[in-house]
Amino acid sequence: MVDRDTLVRILELGRWAPSGDNTQPWRFEIAEDGLIRIHGFDTRDEVVYDFAGHASHIAHGALLETLRIAASAHGCDASWVLRPDGDDRQPVYELHVRRAEGLVVDPLFPFIEQRVVQRRPMRTTPLTAEQRRALAASVGDGYELRLFETFSARAAVARLLWDNALIRLTCPEAFEVHRQVIEWGARFSEDRIPEQAVGVDPLTARLMRWVMKSWARVDFFNKYLMGTVAPRIQLDLLPALGCAAHLCLIARQRPATMVDYVGAGVAMQRLWLTAHAVGLHLQPEMTPVIFNWYASAGHSLSRKAGIDDRVRLLAGRLGSLLGADAAGGLVVMCRVGVSSPPASRSTRKALAGLMLERNGAGRH
Ligand SMILES: Cc1cc2nc3c(=O)[nH]c(=O)nc-3n(C[C@H](O)[C@H](O)[C@H](O)COP(=O)(O)O)c2cc1C
Repeated sequence: MVDRDTLVRILELGRWAPSGDNTQPWRFEIAEDGLIRIHGFDTRDEVVYDFAGHASHIAHGALLETLRIAASAHGCDASWVLRPDGDDRQPVYELHVRRAEGLVVDPLFPFIEQRVVQRRPMRTTPLTAEQRRALAASVGDGYELRLFETFSARAAVARLLWDNALIRLTCPEAFEVHRQVIEWGARFSEDRIPEQAVGVDPLTARLMRWVMKSWARVDFFNKYLMGTVAPRIQLDLLPALGCAAHLCLIARQRPATMVDYVGAGVAMQRLWLTAHAVGLHLQPEMTPVIFNWYASAGHSLSRKAGIDDRVRLLAGRLGSLLGADAAGGLVVMCRVGVSSPPASRSTRKALAGLMLERNGAGRH
């Protein structure tokens, strides 16, 4: 039997799994020796980017894979099943952790804590054949990894991201999210993104902080002072050109169920950890993927006139870039490149704050 102390150590590492805006949409319960219950949730009601909970489900997959890799370092096998009494909004995963004679430690284990998002421009040094091979192999047979490497291919993705960013920055629903997820003035943040990891220079950050006090200020800046230009150059254009490649993770079978998105999260986390293993940094670029989900489902992203038309237009452009079939299976977009580690990063809530209290409190 795997005792509680070992399960705690596995959970301590699992906490380092990535989640959209560092929301950590999970709470843990050690049900008995050898059994961890993970109470997942999603943020679809509050966060415009969490369309149908997909982004949270991807994060759950990243967490489950991280726990599996962490368990391997303790000579344990960890496999999960979904409890039938949960639902898409509050899935409960039961992780069975068992000693496994002769189990090899997963080679991605050393990178669990090192893995980090790099939002600043990276070097444009091309990928080596070995890096390309490792990245492609990391995602498994169920996924295709499409690479955009040449300058013109990266520029095509940069144009798409530039136009996506206009939606992101002019949409009131997204503004509500942005102002809650940035911890201003911070280098590290336990439950959000620290200002210094956002990827803008200190002057722009100060201006953003002031402007983002109200939607009226944002709207005024956007309309009359070209307020989207500086952040788009720093957050989208320069990083999109400053990388070795953009990667599209495409499910060979179009995802349909929650478990399909959890599976995509497993693949994403293996890709991200592998990027570190071969000396690269990575940044997810999820807005085109998310806007594509809205457009494909025919759902409205914003109450603001004109935004939904733009979302549909951009989904069409994504379709032209990838082909309609592949765009339907697109689950993750990201960029990779060589860079020094970021000086600022999100940390995590303490494990005690992530343990589910018996009365069900403590979710947030
Ligand atoms: C499903 C998902 C979507 C994400 N989307 C983005 C994104 O579009 N842009 C970005 O810069 N980071 C994105 N991230 C990265 C998270 O913001 C990051 O993982 C989190 O803040 C924790 O920081 P860390 O990865 O450096 O530990 C995403 C992560 C996940 C799991």
